[in-house]
Amino acid sequence: MDIKTDTPVTVIGLGRMGQALAGAFLKAGHPTTVWNRTASKAAQLVSAGAQLAPTVDDALKASPLTVICVTDYPAMRQLLGGNDISLNGTTLINVTSGDSAQAREAARWAEGRGARYLDGAIMAVPPAIGTAEAVILHSGPQPDFEAHRPTLDALGTVSYLGADHGLASLYDVAGLAMMWSVLNAWLQGTALLKTAGVDAATYAPFARQIAAGVAEWLPGYAEQIDRGSFPAEVSALETDVQAMAHLIEESEAVGVNAELPKLIKAMADRGVAAGHGGEQYPVLIEEFAKPHVS
Ligand SMILES: NC(=O)c1ccc[n+]([C@@H]2O[C@H](COP(=O)([O-])OP(=O)(O)OC[C@H]3O[C@@H](n4cnc5c(N)ncnc54)[C@H](OP(=O)(O)O)[C@@H]3O)[C@@H](O)[C@H]2O)c1
Repeated sequence: MDIKTDTPVTVIGLGRMGQALAGAFLKAGHPTTVWNRTASKAAQLVSAGAQLAPTVDDALKASPLTVICVTDYPAMRQLLGGNDISLNGTTLINVTSGDSAQAREAARWAEGRGARYLDGAIMAVPPAIGTAEAVILHSGPQPDFEAHRPTLDALGTVSYLGADHGLASLYDVAGLAMMWSVLNAWLQGTALLKTAGVDAATYAPFARQIAAGVAEWLPGYAEQIDRGSFPAEVSALETDVQAMAHLIEESEAVGVNAELPKLIKAMADRGVAAGHGGEQYPVLIEEFAKPHVS
């Protein structure tokens, strides 16, 4: 990431994240053109060497690659949708957050107007941009990603996921599901232990060890899911369900919120009712892979 390069790049959208992206390109030595609806937000970047384009069209024409980072997809469409704007021949990387359907639709729209389009997802906060800690995911045509990878490397740890434009958004939300599930489980345990006077800092190292141990199971469990076969090698779902009942009882007995344990058990109960009690936990993928009917 210390490699300096002369490849020009444009950043459209200079909110908190867009400013960090443009700043990282500048720091890596890229001639950087910027545009923002509220032009005053470009002031700091301009004093650091960025060029402020007077119009969106000028911004797009200034570089072979434009990274766009605005609030949402409708904002992206609104600002690129004008008849006076040509996307022909430009490569757009849209790192605006959204869902996979929006990403695929944006790709069709941009490609229909002559652009090359990659969708991106930023799994980092602005201060991390430009460091290896910033994980930035991309999906769309691989040759377009590879052509601009040396420029994108200025932003952090960039990865390519596949040709389906929706993949970056899907990985993004999958990561969020993991993050909130782990945090909620930790908060549940912390609330339980607080009832016995154990503070959060005392429990945290233990919780971390448990989370790391469970993470070790994932590759083996993933193999079971991909094979569609769930032999109870270490534990059966019906045994887990009994422990879930203890978690609910304990939470209720000590006056702690039992919503999360009840949700966990309700899904496992459905798995048992469907005849999977003797199989291993990842068989619950069958519950997760279909809509919930209440
Ligand atoms: N901040 C983070 O930690 C973070 C992390 C990961 C991903 N992201 C994603 O990055 C994207 C931007 O986030 P942010 O934190 O930079 O947001 P922000 O600070 O609120 O900035 C929003 C940007 O969108 C522009 N914008 C909104 N509506 C527009 C429109 N109709 N036409 C033109 N420009 C419009 C704003 O322009 P004005 O300045 O003129 O209002 C501004 O440049 C979001 O999709 C967010 O989910 C952010």
